Amino acid sequence: MSDSCFHMSKERVTAANKRILNNDRAVDCNQLVPIKYKWAWNFYLDGCANHWMPTEVSMQRDIEQWKDPNKFTDAERHVVRRVLGFFATAETLVGNNLVLAVYRCVDNPECRQYLLRQAFEEAIHVHAFQYIVQSLSLDEGEMFNMYREVEAIYDKDNHAMSCTQSVLEMDPKSLKTKEGLQTFVKNLVGLYVITEGIFFYGGFVAILSFGRQNRIPGICEQIQYILRDESIHMNFGIELINAIKEENPEIWTTEFQKEIRDYILGAVVLETRYAEECLPNGILGLNTALIQQYIQYLADRRLERLHLNKQFDSENPFPWMSEVVDLKKEKNFFETRVTEYQTGGALEW
Ligand SMILES: [Fe+2]
Ligand SMILES: [Fe+2]
Repeated sequence: MSDSCFHMSKERVTAANKRILNNDRAVDCNQLVPIKYKWAWNFYLDGCANHWMPTEVSMQRDIEQWKDPNKFTDAERHVVRRVLGFFATAETLVGNNLVLAVYRCVDNPECRQYLLRQAFEEAIHVHAFQYIVQSLSLDEGEMFNMYREVEAIYDKDNHAMSCTQSVLEMDPKSLKTKEGLQTFVKNLVGLYVITEGIFFYGGFVAILSFGRQNRIPGICEQIQYILRDESIHMNFGIELINAIKEENPEIWTTEFQKEIRDYILGAVVLETRYAEECLPNGILGLNTALIQQYIQYLADRRLERLHLNKQFDSENPFPWMSEVVDLKKEKNFFETRVTEYQTGGALEW
């Protein structure tokens, strides 16, 4: 595949020739058109329609509130720091995984077009946390080392990245074997389903709970945009995983399904432990039990999307989160600007 990306030929490619992986020399990785995987192209268009930049969001009120010694309890400041500390490096981990492991292995051009867009969005998310940390004058050393110093965060990152190393070292040719494909699919689950679909949500719900009280509105606005981006990332990832399964049904064995299910259920345990570390005593109507219930609810939804049996049957304790995910409802949830970035920066001639 990628070592000889194209060759001379008078035979033109049709959409039917395309595959999601292992396109070999018959279909090269440079021919976006004819489009076969319209869902991938549509995710790309959706991502572009949601464009935003962190520095467009004012941090003024956040700075004033954060400086005010009476605005936050110690427990509340602890949660904010822990959440920002997790995200400060998690977004970079995701970007690295995407570019160094996923992009190398997925040679379908429609998917690669989306991956390029997603990679830029991850850079924007890294920027957002750098901007927040700098605006609040948080201790940068503490924030950017937290994933190596706080066990609950280290365990999450390690769980999600545990199968990336083997993909980084993998020759893309091994995607022609069942074992190679399984290794790669597990990495996709770690990235798209676990990191972006489970590990981000304890932090999202904690920060957005402040927003419901009109606190840290600039951070909340950025988290809303990130949440909207992440839900598209996860949906793309799940489509990608399901397309690989469909084209390579031999990988989806009973044993492999169990392995994937256990991997996701292991993430629920770690996210609950992280919630305990962030809010040992509960704040703002949140406590570890409710976050655990929410994570279980999310894990069931993710399992179902992968056509695996759900585990928990938990109710969603935070129905307001669903409204935040779907910003198209135009609900002015935080009494702040909710911009639809349909056009990005318009040119004036
Ligand atoms: Fe991200
Ligand atoms: Fe993402």
